[in-house]
Amino acid sequence: MTDFSSEFSGFYKLPLEERQHQLVKLLDLNQEEFELLRTLGYFLPSQIDRLIENVVGSYQLPMGLAFNFKINSKDYIVPMVIEESSVVAAASKIAKIAREHGGFVSDEVKSIMISQIQLTKVKDIDKAKESIAKNKEKILSIANEQDPILNQLGGGAKDLEIREIETRKGKMLILQLLVDVKDAMGANIVNTMAEAVSPYIEDICNAKIYLRIVSNLATHRVAKSRAVFDKNLLGGEEVVEGILNAYEFAVADPYRATTHNKGIMNGIIALTLATGNDTRAIEAGAHAYASISGCYKPLTKFDVDSEGNLVGEIEIPLAFGIIGGITRSHPMARLALKILNVGSAGELAQVAAALGLAQNVGALRALASEGIQKGHMALHSRKIVKLASVSDEIIEEAAERMITDKKIQVGSAKEIIELISKSKNL
Ligand code: MEV
Repeated sequence: MTDFSSEFSGFYKLPLEERQHQLVKLLDLNQEEFELLRTLGYFLPSQIDRLIENVVGSYQLPMGLAFNFKINSKDYIVPMVIEESSVVAAASKIAKIAREHGGFVSDEVKSIMISQIQLTKVKDIDKAKESIAKNKEKILSIANEQDPILNQLGGGAKDLEIREIETRKGKMLILQLLVDVKDAMGANIVNTMAEAVSPYIEDICNAKIYLRIVSNLATHRVAKSRAVFDKNLLGGEEVVEGILNAYEFAVADPYRATTHNKGIMNGIIALTLATGNDTRAIEAGAHAYASISGCYKPLTKFDVDSEGNLVGEIEIPLAFGIIGGITRSHPMARLALKILNVGSAGELAQVAAALGLAQNVGALRALASEGIQKGHMALHSRKIVKLASVSDEIIEEAAERMITDKKIQVGSAKEIIELISKSKNL
């Protein structure tokens, strides 16, 4: 393919259908592939075409439901969008165990986002700080003029923080606008506010402002959840001891802490995606928070109570929205929010924190007992065999044989299905 070029100007100007035709021509796609591009599911072409640039199709993932969640005495069914098998099952299982001791308790989550304004080339740092402090109300009022509706709802720019940082380009002043964004994720609102106040700040501080942007390290929007997990339901004292050892491993070793936190994010990102929230913002914030002490740490903590039950706790910044973005315009995200039945972005964060904790306990319980592969592979093998579109009877038999043979790959699935089909004269 030496004559292939990825240069293509004006692709975005073409109607969606024409883009699909162009792609078919460019890559010589077959009819089946063309049909795949045309299958937009529940999206109208006009809807999907507005979401991003150069759209050629829609990409589907399964949405599953985690059951049994009781959080602050309210029951929740949690929608999860994820491609990895056994994650949803593990969340449901651990949520059921948590019910034995009353379920999860999640703290109230504030809806304060940070917007950063980068002041460089500041002539006199102390004087600039003084000017900002003196004109704080004026700065907040310019910010608040940008969103009168948010103000009416009790939200808006509430406070300022000033930080001094040393950089290789010299000292910088970072002015942080603290904005109560209520039920929105808030990036758009706070970016608008930061841009609006910057000319005034440049003026009173005698400085050059470059960046004016949200911080995804939402330290004023931290969610905390805890629960007691019955030792017997988890599998006994030895399993609890294994979980505590797993936890200490993660505390002491960033290589392990990363995987530990990945297990937490299996749940949280699945809910983030289901509800149409920004997975990258949640993920970036979580990992930055995990290393806020200067060393990457697990986002959960574990101990035992006086009866030897496992006590788990999670602390994680969660900037969720239930309005704005695609939370209400994406049909499936809208349905996911209906299933979840939360009344605020803070409540969504409370559920997500509990889900992350449950997911982590599920992974650690499996790792500390039979190992992760048994459950994982049992489900994964079925998934692989199912792709071959054979009968349920053959799926079960082939999946079991793949586990016994420890060969969970598409290649072996095909071989095993062929063998079984032959032996059954199919
Ligand atoms: C797999 O998606 C997640 C785990 O690796 C998490 C963990 O090791 O704690 C099982």
